[in-house]
Amino acid sequence: MAMIQWFPGHMHLTQKAIAERIKAIDVVIELLDARLPGSSANPMLAKLTEGKPALKVLNKQDLADPQRTALWLAHYNALPGTRALPLDASMTAPAKALVAACHELAPNRGGMAKPMRVLICGIPNVGKSTLINTLAGKRAAKTGDEAGVTKLEQRIAVAPDFYLYDTPGVLWPRIIVAKSGYNLAASGAVGRNAFDEQEVALELLDYLRQHYPALLEVRYKLAGVAALSDEQLLEAIGRQRGALQGGKQVNWQKAAEIVIHDFRSGVLGRMTLETPEEFAQWLAEGQTLDAQRQLKKDAIELDRKIRFKQIARPGSRQNNQE
Ligand code: G4P
Repeated sequence: MAMIQWFPGHMHLTQKAIAERIKAIDVVIELLDARLPGSSANPMLAKLTEGKPALKVLNKQDLADPQRTALWLAHYNALPGTRALPLDASMTAPAKALVAACHELAPNRGGMAKPMRVLICGIPNVGKSTLINTLAGKRAAKTGDEAGVTKLEQRIAVAPDFYLYDTPGVLWPRIIVAKSGYNLAASGAVGRNAFDEQEVALELLDYLRQHYPALLEVRYKLAGVAALSDEQLLEAIGRQRGALQGGKQVNWQKAAEIVIHDFRSGVLGRMTLETPEEFAQWLAEGQTLDAQRQLKKDAIELDRKIRFKQIARPGSRQNNQE
């Protein structure tokens, strides 16, 4: 399984900007995609904001499986210094719940002398601009469907004693969990050029046919999808939706694009691509693999250094031969 990597160039600047801003911040709001809360979280952000009260907002909950959203909310609410809320763009007045949760997390802040200072972060496409626009009551931030659109930092007075700071750009860490790469690509968070649609669609179908077979069967008018292989399923969908080439052959690329589009727009139904348990397992596996890769890299580096020393040392075999 190839690993999807996505690390925009302005990442380092964003990281620096957050590290600077965080000093005068009382609560960090991290917007997560409710369909993939674990994968859409940012481990680097967790490090940068260590010790700060955290509000996890499970955004786009209208697209997510409500039962799984409840599992994720319970998971986050059980963490120390952490609160979690579900949200979506149809909620016209989200400020009340956000403000209340922040006051709960930082009870000593509030009033004009000690206004609440909140930083809002989130990966591309998670709905940050949309939420900021709603909170600001006007079109304050640029929205767009391209991942990684850089925005200028801005401060919004949600209430006279409540300031919300947006972060410029986005934080994107190295993806060490292969599944996360696929889920992020399926959700639209990863730039279009960073992944192969057919691979992402097959991974997506592999998960959906196991966890949401009935929704797939309704949407694509198919039966027994759980028993099909991923390729058979993509082919059947391609046929059903008329994604053909030369009259008969399924156009795999077109079929893959249909599946991804249907998932993103929510027409397949409300679905969530990971549970807290599943994500914890993927993360543990990813970390083990990552540690193994690092050990291998270290061994190669050590070997290179030893060889270099042997060459450089006077009286070494190489030098004697010269
Ligand atoms: P970002 O700043 O985090 O990058 O995200 P942005 O607000 O630009 O939102 C990305 C896409 O997600 C937009 O769709 C937006 O409409 C959609 N979106 C935001 N919040 C929600 C939500 O709660 N539920 C659902 N279903 N969608 C949401 P788009 O197709 O890129 O643009 P447009 O259709 O709004 O023009």
